[in-house]
Amino acid sequence: MSDNARLLDHLSRLYLEAYPHAGLELTRSADSLIHGGSHSLRLFSPAPFRITQSRGATVTDGDGREILDFWQGHYTNILGHNPPVVTEALIHGLENGYGLQSGLVDSLQIDFAELLQRQIGAERIRFTTSGALANQYAIMLARAFTGRSLILKIGGGWQGAQALTFKGVSFRDGYDHPETEGLSQDMMDRVLVARYNDTENLEEIFRQHGDQIACFILEPWMGMGGFMPATAEYLHAARDLTLQYGAALILDEIISGFRFRAGGVHTLYGIEPELSTYAKIVGGGMPLAVVAGREEIMRLCGPESGRRVKFDGGTFSAHPASLLAGYTTVKHLAANEDEIYPRLGRMGEKMRRGVEEAFDRGGVSVICTGYGNEVVPDSSVAMVHFPIDEQLQIISPEQVWDPTVCDVERREQVLKLALLLGRVHVMHGLGAITTEHTDEHLQWLFEACEAAAAHIRS
Ligand SMILES: Cc1ncc(COP(=O)(O)O)c(C=O)c1O
Repeated sequence: MSDNARLLDHLSRLYLEAYPHAGLELTRSADSLIHGGSHSLRLFSPAPFRITQSRGATVTDGDGREILDFWQGHYTNILGHNPPVVTEALIHGLENGYGLQSGLVDSLQIDFAELLQRQIGAERIRFTTSGALANQYAIMLARAFTGRSLILKIGGGWQGAQALTFKGVSFRDGYDHPETEGLSQDMMDRVLVARYNDTENLEEIFRQHGDQIACFILEPWMGMGGFMPATAEYLHAARDLTLQYGAALILDEIISGFRFRAGGVHTLYGIEPELSTYAKIVGGGMPLAVVAGREEIMRLCGPESGRRVKFDGGTFSAHPASLLAGYTTVKHLAANEDEIYPRLGRMGEKMRRGVEEAFDRGGVSVICTGYGNEVVPDSSVAMVHFPIDEQLQIISPEQVWDPTVCDVERREQVLKLALLLGRVHVMHGLGAITTEHTDEHLQWLFEACEAAAAHIRS
């Protein structure tokens, strides 16, 4: 048995003793659900705790335990869980006959689009329901606009559960494998994968395939690929090469949008993409996503172009309750931008440094990613890694998911259970700070990290 297997076995037993409600509900769920739920990431072993309520930085589980949460709705809840500013707007709306009347249009959608134009700097906006759909539509628009079919995406980038880019996420001796069964090889052959922050690699791909590439889609701040910013050099090279070869630049700002400022991060880099996509924070905790972009491309889904791209929407597109939550959140972030983001950045910095120091005190070597750069200094996110070579710097998504470079199992499974014994919930090694996290919460996290280090050492 490996060290991690022994540790997991031990921690699982401690966890099930401490979280009896989780075990009981897993048993009950087996008769109605596959694997106990409907989103694989949330269904961790031995049994996910089930929450009864959440507020601010914490959630309460079925045993009545308060748990400090850094996952915060897949990094969505920048104002914490159920922030009063949003819940009050929703309650007021519902009490006054606004919120669940989907299927019609109203003026809030225009107000929100105007606000987003100002915050994002885009010419046109269209709302949809998820980040995956937003990226799918953006790629369809780019393909129709350029008349080309190759999609270039970033290695380690997750563009959501949609068929067009279900490749190039997990590094396994390269990226030349689909991430799922059920897709045609032809579709996968149309996806090329570039290495993050590797300008030479990008130039080479464009030299070889540039005249067939419809779009380059990338995260200006890498999310599950390791919480790392694009270098200014790389993002400018991406802009220059896409212009030179006539491809559309699509920036996936689904994590970075409204996380580091009240808009996209591309404005901090001084870069204007053809299209950018937003979800998570922009929906204020509700299902909402945005495709924003240049009018001449966006118009391909409008009647003036014969609706060549069927970015037509579904039953819940631009759902009024989502618009209300999103509009309220974005308005709040924009009005308080100078206060909110520097504080989040300072707390993020304290979190990363404090976690590294806590593990160090516990005799375990870890490295955090999530540190900002000269363009995006105020970062409020972090991942914790257990590098095999302690001297190593973690600078690429390939390293983050390569078990010969980082102990991925320790980050994804061991650390999660060890921290839960200290009533701290993390994903991919840590997560995101919200406006509701305080110094006391960080102290709680550091103590849990020291205790986790003790488990790991033992
Ligand atoms: C960078 C990025 N793009 C796209 C998506 C997909 O968004 P959604 O889960 O809303 O479909 C995610 C989700 O985590 C993401 O992190």
